[in-house]
Parts: sequence; structure tokens; C-alpha cells
Amino acid sequence: MWRFFAGILTYMSTKRILTGLRANGELHLGSYLGAILPMVNLQKRYSGNSDYQLNMFAPNLHSFTTEVDHSQLYSQMIENFKVFMAAGLDINQDNTFVYRQSEITAHSELCVILDNFAYFGELSRMTEYKDKATRSENVTAGLFNYPVLMAADILLYGATYVPVGDDQRQHLELTRDLAQRLNNKFEQELFTIPVAFKEQLEFYSRDTGLRIRSLRSPENKMSKSISDPAGTILLSDSPEEARKKIMSATTDSVGAVHYDFDTQPGVSNLLQILATITNESQSAVNSEWEGNERYGDLKQATADATANFLESFQERLSNVDESQLLEKLEQGEAAMREVANATLLRVQKAVGLKPVY
Ligand code: TRP
Repeated sequence: MWRFFAGILTYMSTKRILTGLRANGELHLGSYLGAILPMVNLQKRYSGNSDYQLNMFAPNLHSFTTEVDHSQLYSQMIENFKVFMAAGLDINQDNTFVYRQSEITAHSELCVILDNFAYFGELSRMTEYKDKATRSENVTAGLFNYPVLMAADILLYGATYVPVGDDQRQHLELTRDLAQRLNNKFEQELFTIPVAFKEQLEFYSRDTGLRIRSLRSPENKMSKSISDPAGTILLSDSPEEARKKIMSATTDSVGAVHYDFDTQPGVSNLLQILATITNESQSAVNSEWEGNERYGDLKQATADATANFLESFQERLSNVDESQLLEKLEQGEAAMREVANATLLRVQKAVGLKPVY
């Protein structure tokens, strides 16, 4: 009995950090340095700290709200986990849980319930929906509903911190609104409300907000969706290919290195890549290069660092133990199913799907 209460108390005081590792096939240096590495660093920061629990899951039910190649979906999801592991995600940490959304049916069930409390108007205002809807031929209910499923992902586990980029801010706010709406309506704390976006940033933003630019057109983000092969370094590029792309990166005619994205985006981008890839502070790298008139030397240093990184990353990726990953996914799913089902049951009782005793 005592152990049971102690268990509940520990669970209640644990702060949960939760994020979805999207398999969007955008595995390039920009997403590695800007999204994957910060997540891995976040885990390192809380490693061994039992006051925090980290949920890192694959939102695979979110993967085909727009058209995809379904024959590739499963292997892409597994590959995505492997990339995170090669980047340093330690799935053996006691406080870290990895799982596949579709393996925990409570996500879908809570989503269907929440659908009845989410307003058509508020969902229509989501900018991600509007952007994607204008670009797709057939707008699906799945795309429209995307943020409700995301709210279910978060609320099932009582997550406080949800590290996501700016583009997900509205979805996080919707999650908070829905949680509050149901808590008010049913006059009980059905859901923990994740902290507001600003507080989220204070919690995890040390290295986020990093926007690696295209090597060719450094006024834009590095991206795989915009066809820009010379400006984008893929994680699968050979070290030699990457070196060539960096050596022919666009710079400027100012003639000396300054870290200033407004006037020298190309050079600043190189400084940013160099600092993050060598794990040095931006200010240290900037002061080392400030005023240097030899852009070629900066390119050379960045190319060397990137080639070294790719070589060791690709080596680590090929050594990731897939059977260990699968085992951890199954363990994570078993543990998280319990947590998710407990929340779902509370909601089912509140809305009248289950008797309240
Ligand atoms: N929508 C997120 C993205 O596009 C992925 C995601 C789905 C997610 N469910 C989530 C992120 C829950 C955080 C929490 O990146």
C-alpha cells in the first residue's frame, strides 16, 4: 500500500517533457543542428534526474495528413529513431521513454473524444492547416484534425514541457485551451495544462531558434522540400560531397568576416554551422574569425568540421542496434499505455462513457 502511494506521489511530482520526433524525410544538416541536436542536449541535461521524465515518440498517425509514400512510412519512422540515437539520444536512460503513437490506442480514442470539444472555427484558424490546405489538392479531415490529435498526444501524459518550434506554437495553445475547457466543464483537473509557449522557450530554448540557412541562397532556411541540392547538406551526403557544397557556398563582397545575418548571411551561416558542429560557443567562434579577410579559410574550416562530423555520424548510424531499439520501443509502449489509459479512463468517466465508481 505504502509503495503504491509512494509510486503515485513520485508520478505526480515528476515533470514530463514530451515531444514528437517527426519522420518527414527532411534529414539534412539544418534539421540535425536546429532540431535533433537540441533535443538530444535536452535529454543530456536531464539525464539521471528522476524529477524529469522524457517522452520521445513517433507521431506516425500524423504522418499522412498529406499524401505520402506509404510503403516507406514504417521504415522511415524506424530510421528517424536511429538518427536520433546516432545523434546521441540514449534510449537506455531510466527516465526516457520512446514509443510509436499508433501502438498506444488511447491517442486515437482521446482524439475522438476531444473532437467534440474543439470548435470548427478555432481549427480553421490554424496557420499550418491553412498553409497546407492551400497547397494540397484534396484537403482531408485528418489534416484539419491534426492539432486535436496532437493535443491528445500531450494531455494523455500530463506533459508540462513540450519542446516544439515556432510553427507549432498555435497547436500548443490550442492544447492548453482544450485542457482548460474540459477541466472547467467537468469541474475537475482532468488534464495537466502544459506551460505557455513563452515559458516553454525559457525552459528549453538555450540552443533552439537556430536556423541553418541554405548554402546557396543564405536568405532562406536550409530545406529539402525546396529543391536546392547545392544549398542543402543531407545527412546521407558523403563527406566529399558536403565539402564541395561548403567550398562553393555563396558569400558576399564585403571582404571581411562579420557575424551579421542582415548584411552577410552566407558568412554568418558558415560561422553558425562551424560553432554548432564543433560544439563551441557562437561568440568564441565569431571572435576567432571576426575581421578575417580570407573567406576561403572559413570555408575550409567549416568544410573540414562538417566532413569529420558526417564521417563519424554515418559510422554511428550504421552501428545503431535496431533490435535494441525495437525492444525499447516495446518497453516504452507497455509503460506509457498504462499512463495513457489512466488518463483516458478519467475522461471516459467524466464524459459519461464509463460509470463513475
Ligand atoms: N506537430 C509536431 C510537428 O510537426 C509533431 C507532433 C505531433 C508533436 N504530436 C506532438 C510534437 C506532440 C510535440 C508534442 O513537429
